Amino acid sequence: MTTQTLAGFHHRFEPGTDASAPPLLLLHGTGGDETDLIGLGRALAPGAALLSPRGPVLENGMPRFFRRLAEGVFDEADLRRRSGELAGFVAAARAAYGLAAPVAVGFSNGANIAAATLLLHPETLAGAVLLRAMVPLADPPPADLAGRPVLLLSGALDPIVPADNAARLAAGLAAAGAAVTHTVQPASHGLSQADLTAAAAWLARHRGTLTARAA
Ligand code: MLT
Repeated sequence: MTTQTLAGFHHRFEPGTDASAPPLLLLHGTGGDETDLIGLGRALAPGAALLSPRGPVLENGMPRFFRRLAEGVFDEADLRRRSGELAGFVAAARAAYGLAAPVAVGFSNGANIAAATLLLHPETLAGAVLLRAMVPLADPPPADLAGRPVLLLSGALDPIVPADNAARLAAGLAAAGAAVTHTVQPASHGLSQADLTAAAAWLARHRGTLTARAA
């Protein structure tokens, strides 16, 4: 598998071997790249097609999906623009690779742009697994996420995402109609085995709905 470029995004694409598995859009955290979450994607949904872009913004040499002013303080104008560009990349990749709408699996900065994309471009994603996400936009436009499955996995000991912030994100997505499962793990900002187990089980449980949404 080599890195390719589409709609301005360097990315990796791994074709699926199981047509009944919805594709995954893998979105890495700050300092990651398009190779980071491939192993995670394979473990979470064996046989699913994997689409993994590299964040186009550099912060001291570290790739991210949008600019921030400080840790946890986002440049929302940039986030809105970058979310639109990510939606454009997903549309281009769907056409190029013959893909259904993907389920985002995002970690940290990748989870935050996934949450923003759910709110700003709901048609882009069949659902999402948000690992350590926080509220991406202070004042998002009304979105219709009717029935879209979303799993939010937060860390009880996360120094970056306060508990009330994660709870507000879950409430906001649910208010927009998403079918939100919010679980707080006994973990910090980093991922734990419990996250992987919970995410894999959730993907398997919602496979039918996600596939119908992906079509
Ligand atoms: C962000 O900037 O998206 C969050 O602060 C998470 C991070 O990347 O550290």
